[in-house]
Order: sequence, then C-alpha cells, then structure tokens
Amino acid sequence: MAAEKKYKIAVLSGDGIGPEIVEQAIKTIKAIEMRFGHSFELENVDFGAVSIDHHGIPFTEEAEEICLASDAVLLGAIGDPKYDNDPTVKVRPEQGLLQLRKALGLYSNIRPLKIYDSLKDISPLKAERIENVDIEMYRELTGGIYFGEKELNEEGTVARDVCTYSVEEIERIAIKAFEAARRRRKKLTLVDKANVLETSRLWRKVVQRMSQDFPDVETNYMFVDNAAMQLITNPSQFDVLLTENMFGDILSDEASVISGSIGLLPSASIGDKHALFEPIHGSYPEAKGKGIANPIATILSVAMMMDHFGLTEEAITIRNAVEQVVNAKILTSDLNQQDAFSTQLVGDVIAYLVEDEQLSIESSFEKMKVSLMTII
Ligand code: IPM
Ligand code: MG
Repeated sequence: MAAEKKYKIAVLSGDGIGPEIVEQAIKTIKAIEMRFGHSFELENVDFGAVSIDHHGIPFTEEAEEICLASDAVLLGAIGDPKYDNDPTVKVRPEQGLLQLRKALGLYSNIRPLKIYDSLKDISPLKAERIENVDIEMYRELTGGIYFGEKELNEEGTVARDVCTYSVEEIERIAIKAFEAARRRRKKLTLVDKANVLETSRLWRKVVQRMSQDFPDVETNYMFVDNAAMQLITNPSQFDVLLTENMFGDILSDEASVISGSIGLLPSASIGDKHALFEPIHGSYPEAKGKGIANPIATILSVAMMMDHFGLTEEAITIRNAVEQVVNAKILTSDLNQQDAFSTQLVGDVIAYLVEDEQLSIESSFEKMKVSLMTII
C-alpha cells in the first residue's frame, strides 16, 4: 500500500439536494480513510443560496480563502427556485459558482460518460445504439459567453452577452483534451459553430494547428447542432469531445441521459493550481430532504478527486463499489422505480464496500439492514 497521505478538502454542500448527496460522498471519503490510512481534513463552507441567506452573497471572501487553501473542493449543487423565476433579482446563487470557477482558475471541466451494462435497458436510447459508449467531455469553464461583458440598456429592451476567447484560453484546455485522447481511444472531436461564429473559427484554427503535434490522435470537427444530433443517433463514435463553455454545458446534459440518469455523472474542474469535484446535475429542489436523490454522481466525483491526488487504487475501489451497487440494483428511484432505495442507504452500502475489500455485496446489504433496524 502507498504511503498514508493528508489532504484538506473544502466542502461546499450548497443548495437543494446538495447537503444530502454530499453527506453520502463524505461517508465514502471516511471509508477511504479507514481502508487506506489517509487523512482528509474536511471544512464546511456556506455556498450558493444558503450563503445568500446567511451573508447576502453566494460566495464570500472567506469561502474563497478556504477554497484557495485546500487541496480540493467538493461541491454538491447550487440553485434555488426562488431566484429562477424572477429576472429582476440582482444576486443569484449561480453567480457564486462562476466566481468560484474563476477564482480558482478551473478552466478545464471534465465530464466522463460511462454506460453500465446492467442499466442498458433504462437508457432512453436503444440498447444496441449505446453499445461501447465511452465519452470524455472537455468543457472550457472560465471563458466564453458566461464571462463576457453583459449589458441591459436603460429601457430594459435590449440585452447583450459577449463571447470572447483567446488563443491561450483555447490552447490550455485543448492540450489536456489531446493528452486524454492519447491515453484513451485516440480520437478527438472539436465541437463548435465555425460556420457562424468568429470565436469558433479561432477554436478550429488553434486545434488544427495543435493536432499536428498529436499525429497519433485522429482529430475531427463537428458543428454543435450536428453534434447534438449525433450524440443521440451514434454516440459510440465519440471518444474525447472538446468544446467551449456554453456548448459543453448543453451537450453534457444531453449526453448524461444516455446513461439512464443524470444522477450518475461526476465531473472534475481542473486548473493549474486548484481542483473542484461536483456532480453534473443541479440542486433538484423538488427532491430536497426526501431521501430520493441519487448520490452516485457525487461519490464518483470523489473517485475523480482520488485520481487527481494520484490515489489510483482508492479511485478504482470507489468505482468498483459503485459498479457493484449498480449491478445489484441497490439504486434510488431514478434508476429503480419499483424497488427504490433511499439516498442514505445507497450511500451506506457504497461506503461499506469501499471500507472492506472482503465484504460481499450481500453482506454489505445485510449490514445496511441491521443498521436500519438499530435506528428504528
Ligand atoms: C453546470 C451548471 C452550471 C453551468 C450552472 C448552475 C451555472 O449547469 O455546471 O453545468 O451552467 O455551468
Ligand atoms: Mg449544466
């Protein structure tokens, strides 16, 4: 076993189902501590709508300092309906997320899409269509229209959002995507709208030039509208998808449903100095406190965190545990309507499996039932 390590993790549970799914991810972190002897120092930080309630803003200076001083950030979800349907509000939880991404320089957002064999029938796509789907999306995260100048004229009748990209911003994420393709199936697809947008033409020019340094990677180019269609008609053609901020936001939600549930998809947001890990789904306010939210995306985000720390065996252990619960259908209602398990129970079983290598899925299930009886 590798040497025991110490890490500081800032925990931003956020809004809606954020706290309950993060609670399950923390059980997994504790199980990794027990099994491998590492120590993870966790610090809770207010973030999002909760932070607006407590401090008037979604991301305070103190929160920023804690995140900057941590080895990684674990984020639950952000967003509250009381802000969504009122276009006049000045402070929104989502602003906090953009500020956080910018402050930590998290320009590279990695969203892997994996299909579990045992869930093939749950996908809205036909089983044969999703055979061999394995995509890693690289979404640019700190530029583009999300961060450009924004303006609403005085009369409130005309608005604009500017989309800007520099060569440097494109290069620094493209290199990561090319390297990923080199480690994987050696195919990279740049998704853009180069038939219309100047920024997209710059992306294409930069990526075309860089592709010459990666002759072993097959590079191709696809317009975003076509890519949206191809993700449904022929998703297995993709390996690494590289795209700008807003296209990546939209396409990653689309891609996620192929797996059967958006509740399965983790993400890592990586910069040169900092890293953040979060599920790709939102705060799902309707489910808050009901114990029905799927904790797997957040738990798999912890696996990506372990990879980032160089703790490969730990990451594999988490992924294996998740695979076991998926195959045994110990799942929340998004994936198992007839026989749904609660958020907490799915979290418990995964943590038991992570903590004890010898434990079978059956005994961990028994252990969970015993702990349930004790509570009752
Ligand atoms: C995501 C989310 C965010 C985004 C929102 C909450 C600002 O949709 O991480 O995909 O658009 O980036
Ligand atoms: Mg999104």
